[in-house]
Amino acid sequence: MKYYKVVTYGCQMNEHESEKLCGILEKFNLIQTDDESLADVIVFNTCTIRENAERRAYGNIGALKKLKKANKEKIIAVGGCLTQQKGKAQELKEKFPFIDIIFGTHNLSEFEQMLNRRIETGKKFIDVSTDEYKMPCQVPVKRSTYPSAYVNVMYGCNNFCTYCIVPYVRGRERSRTPEEILVEVQGLINEGYKEITLLGQNVDSYGKDLNPKVDFSSLLKMVASIDGKFRIRFISNHPKDVNEKLAETIKNNEKICNSIHFPVQSGSTNVLALMNRRYTREDYLKKIKMLRKTVKDIAITTDIMVGFPNETEKDFKQSLSLLKKVKYDGAFTFVYSKRSGTKAFDMDGHIDESIKKERIVKLVEVQNNVNKKLAKKYVGKTVEVLVDEFNTACGYYMGRDERGKAIHFSSDRNVVGEFLQIKITRADGISVYGEIV
Ligand code: 5AD
Ligand code: SF4
Repeated sequence: MKYYKVVTYGCQMNEHESEKLCGILEKFNLIQTDDESLADVIVFNTCTIRENAERRAYGNIGALKKLKKANKEKIIAVGGCLTQQKGKAQELKEKFPFIDIIFGTHNLSEFEQMLNRRIETGKKFIDVSTDEYKMPCQVPVKRSTYPSAYVNVMYGCNNFCTYCIVPYVRGRERSRTPEEILVEVQGLINEGYKEITLLGQNVDSYGKDLNPKVDFSSLLKMVASIDGKFRIRFISNHPKDVNEKLAETIKNNEKICNSIHFPVQSGSTNVLALMNRRYTREDYLKKIKMLRKTVKDIAITTDIMVGFPNETEKDFKQSLSLLKKVKYDGAFTFVYSKRSGTKAFDMDGHIDESIKKERIVKLVEVQNNVNKKLAKKYVGKTVEVLVDEFNTACGYYMGRDERGKAIHFSSDRNVVGEFLQIKITRADGISVYGEIV
């Protein structure tokens, strides 16, 4: 065995878990490749948040049938949120009998033992543990996002939004201790990382399960007290839980970026109630006001979906008007996708696919216009950028300011990982370009 490939499908949590799978695979002295025909071990780290993520995984796994037939020694493993869903592991096994290992999100930390077991016995197996989730904290990580690094602060979710599969596949909330998190962050800073993104399905619930209890703002302050020049980001927050303490913490700590991901999901109070979001449009707008008042020039991004069961034209228009009113710095826009096992799945009033399509087109258009206007407002400003990468496709370096805006510029030396002052010279659509000052 010489090469491995890990395929990622989902959110940053999923991406970070792929980094852990890569870390484990490198313990077997394997080398990463993109080439599936070359890879001796292929791991699909699936996602199941929407049907298209699931469909993509099924397509990619199915496409491996030929390669596996040609080389029976190839080991194919499937893990992640899809396999953790009730009945899916069995379904995958029946549909793709050539899969060697099916594991879940709950036992990712045991992937090393599972791979050893497959190598030693030569037998295929399913091990989707439904026991208590084992936090994959002691697993080696092969990081792929320098100069940024993800750090899990908690796993799971207790919110049960009626559309969402996450609580079913990732279980209840469990927090890591501040001590463990601080050791990991300090290690990353020592290694030269310049941006730490704290990850949790709902970071506002951080520490409620710890003894003694700690809240997320306190954790942020502890992380910010680590020496060195670096940025702190975090995802995701729940609008019902965001409070003034968090806003003050962002404001008072230089290292914490003036930026928040603040998923609204719908602009209609009626739909929000059906979604079990536990806030109204008015509550949400009040929190936006509070955030903007406390933290000067805070960037606010969101997630919003169309076509939730019973969403009327009037409800949908409220989502459009919310986008226009808030003028988000970015919005991830989604079409509601039926997820079996969730409450919304069994609701009456599912919306026609054609109507969903019409609505998403309009929603995206409104946000695009907002994005373009915001990009124009950047012209003439000078901002501090942390350089992420050189984009070979467009020939520019790309970095982000603390508000998370991607900024493109040229440089005749490698500046990845550096903080630079960039003067914005032009905007082209939603993209902005500048020059090193
Ligand atoms: N259909 C469409 N979008 C969904 N999301 C979560 N579940 C669904 C679903 N069933 C979106 C939400 C969430 C983001 C991560 O994915 O907007 O915030
Ligand atoms: Fe992430 Fe949710 Fe997809 Fe799981 S199902 S990978 S938690 S987006």
